[in-house]
Amino acid sequence: MKVLHVSCSPRRQAAESYRLAQQIIDQLRQTDPGAIVIDRMIGHGIILPIDEDYAVSQGSSKDVSRLGSMAKSEQLILELENADVVVISTPMHNLTLPATLKLWIDHIVRTRRTFNITNVGKVGTLHNRPVYVAISSGGRFSGEHPQQPDFLTPYLKAILGMIGLHKVTTFSVQGTGSHSDALASLRRNADQTVRDYFASLHRDQSHVGSVAY
Ligand SMILES: Cc1cc2nc3c(=O)[nH]c(=O)nc-3n(C[C@H](O)[C@H](O)[C@H](O)COP(=O)(O)O)c2cc1C
Repeated sequence: MKVLHVSCSPRRQAAESYRLAQQIIDQLRQTDPGAIVIDRMIGHGIILPIDEDYAVSQGSSKDVSRLGSMAKSEQLILELENADVVVISTPMHNLTLPATLKLWIDHIVRTRRTFNITNVGKVGTLHNRPVYVAISSGGRFSGEHPQQPDFLTPYLKAILGMIGLHKVTTFSVQGTGSHSDALASLRRNADQTVRDYFASLHRDQSHVGSVAY
């Protein structure tokens, strides 16, 4: 199994979202101890905004360049296509995704490559595979008394669906601004949710003899 981990926090390995993603990756490794994990760290701004040629090509019927953003786009799409499972770890920033994750999306969601515009709308070209999203937020955005709207998870599901990735599962640790005891308990609960999810996956699929994440 090849796992692509796209991590989007500027805090890199110290990030809460990165920590939660490692719980997911641990579970994947238990399924396949030989799993290969590509750690694509983008949260510190290594992906540039798209360039002019790329923007022009998205609004016309042909690609005007194979260099610059187009070359970067191709590299990131190939990495995604090669993965059996995708893990995205991300903080919530200003009610939505961090700009660094949006730049990755601007490169991998590309017309005539990862989706086509048809008379029934935009249709993805990637083959479906599981995507796990590990989210960390200072406050709560779901549950009984959310403290803020959530423009992160609905957006991610919509945009990944547009390129053919429809199996998106989110996990979150919400309220990381809490004092340390409360935070420890939030982490424990989030980790348990991940373990329970994979245990139920194994239970549901044990009768067919293999696990499709
Ligand atoms: C620029 C910025 C904007 C943020 N906006 C929000 C927000 O809208 N809602 C929220 O709950 N937390 C917000 N936070 C807090 C982070 O989501 C929180 O600290 C999170 O745990 C960081 O995760 P990380 O360690 O994976 O980067 C924001 C943090 C930063 C730096």
